[in-house]
Amino acid sequence: MRDAMKLAADHGAAWRTGATSSVRADANARSIHPTASLEELRHAFGGPLPDAPEEGQGVIRHLIAAAEPGLVGNTDARFHAWVMGASHPVGVAADWLTSAWGQNPGIYQCSPAAATAEEVAAGWLLDLLDLPRTASVGFSTGATMAGFTCLAAARGEVLRRSGHDFADLGLAHAPPVTVFVAADTHASNLAAIRYLGIGNRDIVRIPTDGDGRMAVPELAQRMAGTEGPKIVLATAGQINTGAFDDFHALADLVREHDAWLHVDAAFGLWARAAPGRKHLADGLDRADSWSTDGHKWLQVPYDSGFAIVRDPEAHVRAMDITASYLTQSPDGGRNPTQFSPELSRRARGFAVWAVLRALGRQGVAEMIERHCAAAALLGDLLGGLSGVRVHNEVVLNQLVVSFHDGARGENLTAAMEERLNAGGRYFFRTAEWKGETVLRVSVISRETGEAEIRDLARCMEREWSDLQAARRQG
Ligand SMILES: Cc1ncc(COP(=O)(O)O)c(C=O)c1O
Repeated sequence: MRDAMKLAADHGAAWRTGATSSVRADANARSIHPTASLEELRHAFGGPLPDAPEEGQGVIRHLIAAAEPGLVGNTDARFHAWVMGASHPVGVAADWLTSAWGQNPGIYQCSPAAATAEEVAAGWLLDLLDLPRTASVGFSTGATMAGFTCLAAARGEVLRRSGHDFADLGLAHAPPVTVFVAADTHASNLAAIRYLGIGNRDIVRIPTDGDGRMAVPELAQRMAGTEGPKIVLATAGQINTGAFDDFHALADLVREHDAWLHVDAAFGLWARAAPGRKHLADGLDRADSWSTDGHKWLQVPYDSGFAIVRDPEAHVRAMDITASYLTQSPDGGRNPTQFSPELSRRARGFAVWAVLRALGRQGVAEMIERHCAAAALLGDLLGGLSGVRVHNEVVLNQLVVSFHDGARGENLTAAMEERLNAGGRYFFRTAEWKGETVLRVSVISRETGEAEIRDLARCMEREWSDLQAARRQG
């Protein structure tokens, strides 16, 4: 057993060191794209279920050989495709221990250490993000389930205020709950609303401005014309542009209607941890709940998200699991299952606690500022190139870029994606934004800074010039 664990730890550390030493896009950098085909991966993992037990080290060796050609380099500074974090090494080490300890944090008595690490990390998060210190925090798999948790609390509370006891009567006998979302809300929010039994008929999509911010006058009009309990789902950090809604205006409206304001802040919430960016999320603390990720900007290993609710009673009413054998801690320790959908689960608090200690308040602020400054620099460098359009105001870490042949009026962004990804150098993906194919550039990997972004801008400029030359010749 010991040998298998040691092999995994040694190999994992070596793999990460290899990944980080190739952070710059030089000629020797490791490909950050999978190199194996689906067929090769199926073959490598496949074969019949073994009848006999296999020796541990051999299993781990086989796992390494099968998996590594199919891994994506999202922990690398050259990865910009999706908004993903880079698993801070100290968080990874804490996560290894979490598995080795095999703790189940369902209730305090299952693992007093896991419950207390969560309790302390929850307090640190509220402090770092400057949210109400009395709010409750659930540790979830990610922002999707954090959103689900917060919206479950919201649904129960707005129904309670309308005189409906959700626990007793459920949705079947309830008045419809209307959820107002931005037309560009993240798809996971629509899934979370659906999991809660609310369908398209009761989801009102509010138009947005060029950067994806909800149009407040339109929202006011639609809310005024809607009877019954209401939830407004706002965004801090739009998935493409990084834009923030006008939280003061939304909070005023929500108060007028005795509604609930939830903020999907999967990565944008972390702006509050950086003094130079905190103004972007001004008024966000007036909301009723916030969902965010640990595994994105905080760089906690997967899976890590936080469901933060201003009113702990509403939170617990939605999530609590009670049974005679699930007793409360006699001395008031935290029962984690009161704040997230699961009973048995991974002890997520250890890795969060470890990453928060490893970075400290200053480390988090420095990283957020560095990523935002790098994104702004890339915006400036690309904005000066003919045929290149930066679509958004680069306020956070996200850029929306497209490449155009002006003479022929052709969008060449997909061709640029292919060129940038060639040889596994960078990892980019296109998306559709306001009817155009664009390159979404996310600057969120732990190590990315000015040097990497200048390399990237040079590479983009070179590839763009080569692409145009090739087309002229062709
Ligand atoms: C704005 C936003 N909300 C929600 C999510 C869903 O988060 P997760 O994938 O951690 O469940 C994402 C993920 O990219 C996101 O960017």
